[in-house]
Amino acid sequence: MDERVITTEELETDSFEQSIRPLTLDEYVGQDEIKENLRVFIEAAKMREESLDHVLLYGPPGLGKTTLAHIIANELGCNLKTASGPSLEKSGDLAAVLSTLEPGDVLFIDEIHRMPKFVEEILYPAMEDFELDIIIGTDGKSRSIKIDLPPFTLVGATTRAGDLSGPLRDRFGIVAKLNYYKDTELQQIVKRTGRVLSMSIDDDAALEIARRCRKTPRVANRLFKRVRDFALVDGTGTIDYKITIDSLKKLKVDEYGLDQIDIEYLEALIDKFNGGPVGVETIATAIGEEVTTIEDVVEPFLLQEGFIKRTQRGRVATDKAYDHLQIDRQESLF
Ligand SMILES: Nc1ncnc2c1ncn2[C@@H]1O[C@H](COP(=O)(O)OP(=O)(O)OP(=O)(O)O)[C@@H](O)[C@H]1O
Ligand SMILES: [Mg+2]
Repeated sequence: MDERVITTEELETDSFEQSIRPLTLDEYVGQDEIKENLRVFIEAAKMREESLDHVLLYGPPGLGKTTLAHIIANELGCNLKTASGPSLEKSGDLAAVLSTLEPGDVLFIDEIHRMPKFVEEILYPAMEDFELDIIIGTDGKSRSIKIDLPPFTLVGATTRAGDLSGPLRDRFGIVAKLNYYKDTELQQIVKRTGRVLSMSIDDDAALEIARRCRKTPRVANRLFKRVRDFALVDGTGTIDYKITIDSLKKLKVDEYGLDQIDIEYLEALIDKFNGGPVGVETIATAIGEEVTTIEDVVEPFLLQEGFIKRTQRGRVATDKAYDHLQIDRQESLF
């Protein structure tokens, strides 16, 4: 079974995720600064009876960008329309979505960095002046027409803010970077999921999941779901520490919550490249992964947890990485 329990990526069939999504800012755990700012901006927009400024959410997968987009619409008391960068292939695709908007609606565009440039350009006047400029007709007889749009809020989400063009980024009034969660916050998330799914979990058990989930709520919830299965089959009514530890062992979840790709990455860095420095492309090729996956998913966490360092000449493994893989730094030189 080569299922990656702790992948941070969203899976197609994840109705489970939707069932446990918090619906209000109060239920949304952590990211306090973002939450408090949004609370004020949302309240102010409601008081002025204006649409909320456009919001850009960025950060690694599974930290709650989509969840927050839904919450924003919910707190505004408006509808949420959804699109994704790659699905907006033609300018007409975007125009079609924009023309369904009602006053105050939230348009959520996921993976907004993957929108084609010419589609992006349609978005500029739409964001700035609530105007849709479209060209109708062909060559000789084509003309441009302007259609007024109702005021709306664009919420864009991306794992790579760096890939967004300057003009697009500048049109967002609110830009928020989501960070990895603290263990106590993840513990709270797991406890909450337990309540929603009517399977209670002890505090120490929830904390253990929190420690091993790559600091990512999506992974925490997935681990909870698996541990719950073990507890259910075992006939225990609640999830305690022991069953959690046993289950995590059976699931081969590392004590730091490192994923199979994380381990492959560190092994390649240490075994094949003597701990670096080595370029990201070289590592990606060595382990057969996309550079974008490495840069967006694998490295941010390894950097944050101090397993690697980024230097001018490339990536370098730290002592913590050697210790964790139980490789002697000296031995590996020969
Ligand atoms: N702050 C939070 N509080 C409680 N649960 C959360 C929080 N953030 C995320 N979650 C849970 O984690 C899951 C994943 O979150 P979400 O889908 O919003 O991540 P994402 O940032 O959109 O990921 P991706 O980049 O892959 O689209 C959701 O099912 C949600 O239940
Ligand atoms: Mg998402």
